[in-house]
Amino acid sequence: MCGIVAYIGPKDAAPLLLEGLQRLEYRGYDSAGIAVCGRTGGLRLRKVKGRVADLAEAVPARFKGTAGIGHTRWATHGVPSDANAHPHLDAAQRIAVVHNGIIENADELRARLAADGTAFASETDSEVLAHLVAAHAGEGVALEDAVRQALAHVVGTYGVAVLDSAQPDRVVVARNGSPIVLGIGEKEMFAASDVAALVRYTRQVVHLDDGELAVVRADGFRTFTEDARATAKEPSTVDWEVGSYDTGGHEHFLAKEIHEQPDAVERTLRGRLDDRFHTAHLGGLNLDARELRAIRRVKILGCGSAYYAGEAGAQLIEELARVPAHAEPASEFRYRNPVIEADTLYVAVSQSGETYDTLAAVQEVRRKGGRVLGVVNTVGSAIARACDGGIYLHAGPEVSVASTKAFTCTAVAFALLALHLGRIRDLSPADGRRICAGLKALPDRIREILAQEERIAQLAAAYAKHDGMMFVGRVRGWPVAREGAQKLKEVSYVHAEAYPASELKHGPLALIGPGLPTVAVVPDDELLDKNLTTLGEIRARGGRVLTVGHRAPDARLADDSLVVPRSEPELDPLLLGIPLQLLAYHAAVALGRDVDRPRNLAKSVTVE
Ligand code: F6R
Repeated sequence: MCGIVAYIGPKDAAPLLLEGLQRLEYRGYDSAGIAVCGRTGGLRLRKVKGRVADLAEAVPARFKGTAGIGHTRWATHGVPSDANAHPHLDAAQRIAVVHNGIIENADELRARLAADGTAFASETDSEVLAHLVAAHAGEGVALEDAVRQALAHVVGTYGVAVLDSAQPDRVVVARNGSPIVLGIGEKEMFAASDVAALVRYTRQVVHLDDGELAVVRADGFRTFTEDARATAKEPSTVDWEVGSYDTGGHEHFLAKEIHEQPDAVERTLRGRLDDRFHTAHLGGLNLDARELRAIRRVKILGCGSAYYAGEAGAQLIEELARVPAHAEPASEFRYRNPVIEADTLYVAVSQSGETYDTLAAVQEVRRKGGRVLGVVNTVGSAIARACDGGIYLHAGPEVSVASTKAFTCTAVAFALLALHLGRIRDLSPADGRRICAGLKALPDRIREILAQEERIAQLAAAYAKHDGMMFVGRVRGWPVAREGAQKLKEVSYVHAEAYPASELKHGPLALIGPGLPTVAVVPDDELLDKNLTTLGEIRARGGRVLTVGHRAPDARLADDSLVVPRSEPELDPLLLGIPLQLLAYHAAVALGRDVDRPRNLAKSVTVE
């Protein structure tokens, strides 16, 4: 949420900042801005309401400067407008600040600064930072000290980058709750919220920790703590390809990421299946077999699609390992003063590894002495680092705001965990072999589903004409139905509601009629007959039905059906969701939506 980028080096900063912001636009896209400064000072600022492309048009050709900072915004305090866009300046227009996060005591700081005569140019919480830094930037004070002293007044979360036209040889960045990564180039340095903005220029990166600051110059950087103690950081190498951040010939990132799933799943599985003992090897768990056997319960925490993937995971763990498992929205967890049990394994799920609510849930568990594993895509992210161990998805960067490949790869990672837990308990070698074979076959099965895209697109265009849709499923089909509804509403804005099929007659059946079609997830499992009865009840009320399952039901029960290849029944949720991703995508395209940047949303929700 909100993307920050900074550059200092021999080149013209503006084009590099604009390019970086374009790569970060998934984090927010209601306004954008850059500030640059030449070697001899003089601050230039452009900021606009709208997209990075609008900003690029507004930046004049002569916008020279070799140090600069940029920002793409997802509004929290104040409407999207030119004035509320970042960077924010101090009154003397010497200091420029970009900020990602929320300053919780902004009102109090604003009142204090206003009482001292400071005039504010925006409604944002972030602007106070520019004035606070200016208040500490006296004669002879290094910018890094002024920023450090200013941040001592701040309660809240921040990733910040600060430029001072009086000290144009440096940019200062700081992190507390919102990510900052430094990129080390050849006589040039970058900083950004995400490596996406850097990989075109360098693979050598340094992730700042919470409470850490860095002063960044063209020839290097220095990191230190809030109380000015130097810290030692080892650069790491990013292995994500530059091409991961292009649409790769697809019209949208969402389409690209849906189609990447066979390869992404292959990567999640790579090196983890053991054909000798018919189990999974998960090197990062940091738990031995004895510790894993002592686990009596599994609690899975995540938000949005990560939570729904966690629901599928809980089911896999119960089915394969016979350990009670339950998923819960991470955003609610800490507010109910949860009981943390020593023999419960907590698992945090996050694609970005940055989601504030999930991170806070992890911290709550650890504060109370619990053990947390992370199922995370982004290597080295805050959640990955806050956990005791975990499983990386290796799905590659997910750029589209709507999560697809991360959902599938998370479910695959849970299948591996369930297999591992199961095989040190009572899952038989024969069942272990069966699940291993099912997992290995997944990429090809996914390819078969993707080959049906044209037909799914036709159905999507027809179904998208309705104002709403009901999604139903039972047991293994239930997280799939929830995620299907979530995908449809977030990218197409068509209202979608998910219900367990068994619950329809307890209320929502009243909604069913010709105006509200139902998407029913009906795998060929022990609940098929019960599901078919529900379809009969829907059809009897004039409701149109689209099924997703292993065969097309009788024409009296479904108007349309999508057939997915069979897998092992426990793995059904991993495949059944994929046609629903395509359905949502093509509904959004048919309705002319901004597929990769749905209104009001942003990826990586780093605010509460
Ligand atoms: C939906 C979506 C969101 C995220 C949620 C958690 O398509 O993308 O619901 O799943 O915000 O994000 P991560 O997984 O990054 O913690």
